[in-house]
Amino acid sequence: MTFSLPSLPFSPGALAGRGMCQETLELHHGKHHQAYVNALNGLVDKNDALKGKSLEDLVRMAHGRDDLVAVFNNAGQHWNHSFFWNCLSPAGGGVPGSLEKKLTADFGGVDKFKEQFKAAALGQFGSGWAWLILGSDGRLKIAKTANAGTPVATGEGKPLMVLDVWEHAYYVDFRNRRADFADNFLAKLANFEFVAAQLAAA
Ligand code: FE2
Repeated sequence: MTFSLPSLPFSPGALAGRGMCQETLELHHGKHHQAYVNALNGLVDKNDALKGKSLEDLVRMAHGRDDLVAVFNNAGQHWNHSFFWNCLSPAGGGVPGSLEKKLTADFGGVDKFKEQFKAAALGQFGSGWAWLILGSDGRLKIAKTANAGTPVATGEGKPLMVLDVWEHAYYVDFRNRRADFADNFLAKLANFEFVAAQLAAA
């Protein structure tokens, strides 16, 4: 086995009081994410050119390659989900002062940042991801990617936060209400301490 499912950084029931129930996490982490890891390992096992490469190398190598679509999809989904779990916290929602300053400088305020991030989450037609990225010019940006798309593939900046907007991320808790899911994430789940720590280390 080349790749393995990372443990959640909290217990599967830890977010139940904050809008993400244990069933969601057991399905999303234990079934969906595990399936991407299993599929990726199966693909690597069958192709010597893929063996021994890091996850990031596989994402970049497979990006845009018609013969490696399944590799890109499963490697991208493994990377994105592994990152997503770190963007959730049982103590989420609070924005540290250092990050508030940067959000205000680049978006005009925390609320304006949240509006733009939510717009990206809602504007992604079908399955995908909404991102906060540190651009190479030092400014924060909002982005969205479809399906398994990831900034890791394009090197367009350093990912700081992501929200999974595939239906499997919110259907148990919010049914079809993606807007409520995004609002809840920003208010109660987003691990802005993790965002601030990555920004400080960048
Ligand atoms: Fe997902």
